[in-house]
Amino acid sequence: MNGRKRIVALISGSGSNMEALAVACERGEIQASVVAVLADRDCSGLELAAARAIPTGRVEPKHFESREVWSEALRDAVMVHEPDLVVSAGFMRILSPVFVDAFAGRLINLHPALLPAFPGAHAVRDALAAGVRVTGSTVHFVDHLVDHGPIIMQVPVAVEPDDSEETLHERIKEAEHRMLVDACKMFIEGRVHLDAGRVLIER
Ligand code: GAR
Repeated sequence: MNGRKRIVALISGSGSNMEALAVACERGEIQASVVAVLADRDCSGLELAAARAIPTGRVEPKHFESREVWSEALRDAVMVHEPDLVVSAGFMRILSPVFVDAFAGRLINLHPALLPAFPGAHAVRDALAAGVRVTGSTVHFVDHLVDHGPIIMQVPVAVEPDDSEETLHERIKEAEHRMLVDACKMFIEGRVHLDAGRVLIER
């Protein structure tokens, strides 16, 4: 473990991206460990993490008097793990400035669309409704706006004529697993640089 960088993942659902990341770390593909997985609700991804012996936790908004107080609690719950990188991997809550500022430059989000197209909680549904032929997924640094911030990497996914939201989202997930691993690997290797609000990747 010595010298290995520390990743904390935030999830709300099935946790397949978190698992792809954890597997890449376990295989040594990324010189880091997923040291904690935190969720805003009970979700099956927490079981996946526990099965890999990754510490898990829940910080649920309903247990706090306001969004602000919840955000502070989430920030503190992440902070104790001293992360080098915080990955919002299917976390279905808006992160407020008190959280974002605490992890500036080391907080990234995964979004199932080619931002700036289709921000928000229904990106796959919105892309289908718009009739686009290509959508995909984006990894970006998090700023104070929703699904916004310097883009690190994107992957395109073709929309098939008979796609449902579920079939399209499944293919997006397959593509984003690889992309998220690649982006985290580059970040952990110190090859992702912010320059005047844009991301430069050292190849
Ligand atoms: C992923 O497709 C991710 O891009 C998306 O949720 C899914 C989580 O899947 N994120 C968002 O919609 C954030 N607004 P997973 O739990 O199986 O990794």
